[in-house]
Amino acid sequence: MKQGVIFDLDGVLISTDEMHYRAWKSIADELGIPFGHTENNLLRGVSRMASLDIILNLGNMVLSDQEKEALAERKNNRYVELLQSLTPDVVAGEVRETLSRLHKRGIKTAVGSSSKNAKLILKLTDLEKYFDAVSDGTNITRSKPDPEVFLKGAEFLGLTPGECAVTEDAVAGIDAANAGGFYSIGIGDAAAYDKADARIGNISELLDLI
Ligand code: BG6
Ligand code: MG
Repeated sequence: MKQGVIFDLDGVLISTDEMHYRAWKSIADELGIPFGHTENNLLRGVSRMASLDIILNLGNMVLSDQEKEALAERKNNRYVELLQSLTPDVVAGEVRETLSRLHKRGIKTAVGSSSKNAKLILKLTDLEKYFDAVSDGTNITRSKPDPEVFLKGAEFLGLTPGECAVTEDAVAGIDAANAGGFYSIGIGDAAAYDKADARIGNISELLDLI
């Protein structure tokens, strides 16, 4: 029986993957680096700068820190532009229903996302009200698979990792949850990952797991 659940945001509560993809794709195209959905999957759960490093590696390209900062900023501007199309309607009914039912059971909930845009996304989709805490890219120094974002999330909830489950769609996120001592639940892409403690096809299934 867990007392808290920490949710990854992108790919678990809402799907912004395609927007990340389109924003990175425009940068990769400019650099002449082949970039498709398979490559985009490598960026799931990975921080913005680490994502850029992966893309540059794919193209065997080395750039200065200053050039990288400029590219990462351009990618983010493009991404934030795309995010403006988000509305509360894009959130699946079963996501809201699951979050409400957790609260009714007295289970605390937090977001554990690598994104520095997490709070903006929660606001645009009207999801803020479901969470007791938000741990995101603005309060961490190390990206998943480091457990920092989830450890901070548990700390914000006043719980230990052993008292919390983590729901993740990224392999790097399941590795992070396991490394931090959390009960890891894989969904989406991570539902096929054998290192997850549990694997679900649908978010409401987690109500039977914790
Ligand atoms: C994660 C996404 O949630 O956030 C990654 O899965 C993304 O793809 C990362 O790179 C950082 O996001 P942002 O919004 O800070 O650039
Ligand atoms: Mg994710």
